[in-house]
Amino acid sequence: MAKRIPEPFRIKMVETIKQTTREYRIRAMAEAGNNPFRLRSEDVYIDLLTDSGTGAMSDKQWAGIMLGDEAYAGSRSFYNLESTVQKIFSYKYVLPTHQGRGAEQILFPALMDRRKEVKKVTNPVFISNYHFDTTAAHVELSGAQAVNAFSRIAVDTSTFHPFKGNFDLEKLENSINEYGADNVVAIIATITCNSVGGQPVSLENIKATKQIADKYDIPVVIDSARYCENAWFIKQREDTYKEWTIPDIIKEIYKYADILTMSAKKDALVNIGGLCCVKERNDIFKAIQIRCIPFEGFVTYGGLAGRDMEALAIGLEEGMSEEYLTYRIGQVKYLGDRLMEVGVPIQNPTGGHAVFVDAKRLLPHIPGEQFPAHAMANQLYIEGGIRGVEIGSLLLGRDPKTGKQKNSDFELLRLTIPRRVYTNDHMDYIVDTFVELIKDTKKIKGMTFVYEPPILRHFTAGFKYID
Ligand code: F0G
Repeated sequence: MAKRIPEPFRIKMVETIKQTTREYRIRAMAEAGNNPFRLRSEDVYIDLLTDSGTGAMSDKQWAGIMLGDEAYAGSRSFYNLESTVQKIFSYKYVLPTHQGRGAEQILFPALMDRRKEVKKVTNPVFISNYHFDTTAAHVELSGAQAVNAFSRIAVDTSTFHPFKGNFDLEKLENSINEYGADNVVAIIATITCNSVGGQPVSLENIKATKQIADKYDIPVVIDSARYCENAWFIKQREDTYKEWTIPDIIKEIYKYADILTMSAKKDALVNIGGLCCVKERNDIFKAIQIRCIPFEGFVTYGGLAGRDMEALAIGLEEGMSEEYLTYRIGQVKYLGDRLMEVGVPIQNPTGGHAVFVDAKRLLPHIPGEQFPAHAMANQLYIEGGIRGVEIGSLLLGRDPKTGKQKNSDFELLRLTIPRRVYTNDHMDYIVDTFVELIKDTKKIKGMTFVYEPPILRHFTAGFKYID
């Protein structure tokens, strides 16, 4: 792949971003309780907090916004979205939701009820290659445990592996036997696997996972936030599929699952929206429809405006463009390659949506319970006005039974690249900032809580430095 892959678009509208001084940023970060989530976004120069809902919509999507049909029930925009989804995934039943977690909150309890009707459930669990944080939270809220069966190769950030997002199939099957197949409410395949570095899952692994699931009569859910990026990696790295089109690979992936949840704020290129779709089981679809109405809204809008559904239908198609994906994932790789060149350790290879800096290797003097990647995030903002996010001990949280900090395999600082938003000059600026930052990493101090909320603590917690 050429080092620089030019944008397959030109810029039609611009947004000014504020440049601030170091003193300003020190004050802003202190006022935010040393938690980048609590910063005002207008105080951020380059915002790499998330790729969720932060992408730029196309001219076609904006035109779709004008065409949205705002009927409460049965709007044209819903039917347009429904037929697009049916065409792309070959799933019969389509439910819009306000975002990914909206799909999770209506689906997981419905799956739990269904499992209890047909199996003897005593200690329910969901097993995933890695549950995203809100996914794990909804599993727990539904009364089950979230178990991860990720590949150990993912933990070794310095070694290249083409599919670090894969399930460890042996661990998956062992976990099913350990908890008892009846207790496994669902297997969730997260593509790409966000929490281990935006790493792809191979089609071979997806097929094998489905085989195991079928053996034990367990439904498979695909957590589909980054389904296009995953398909692009399959085309690049899995020989069997190198001549396939992205839409064909996507169709193939979804053959090996029963249900999909989607945060459409990522690969589907919208600022808000989600999906919960079922391949063929009308009984499961009915159950989620029933839960959709009180939580998300009527079944033909699920918390979205007609215009949102119109933009989503267009975004689902645009997100599959190979030209766009080559540029998109190429930009992430460009940043990753340049950071490695200047000596910043990262999860290798770079993922689809982000570069994950390995703070464990960069700041070995800070132990996990003092949140090295979070400390790094704070310094990155102060140094250059760049906002990243910790994916490590802070995100993982405490064991709900013992109250002890869970032991995290990863201490990563995620630099998440919004889609179609920043240029490679911005990427170069990020690299320059890191060059300054790593001149003296010893002076970066560990952090501890001044305020720790009981669940999903990283979003609103307050911190201080440990002297
Ligand atoms: N699943 C995955 C793999 C995700 O990455 C996310 C969100 C969700 C589910 C939940 O979707 O936010 O639309 O409710 N990830 C964002 C992130 C927030 O920054 O990685 P949502």
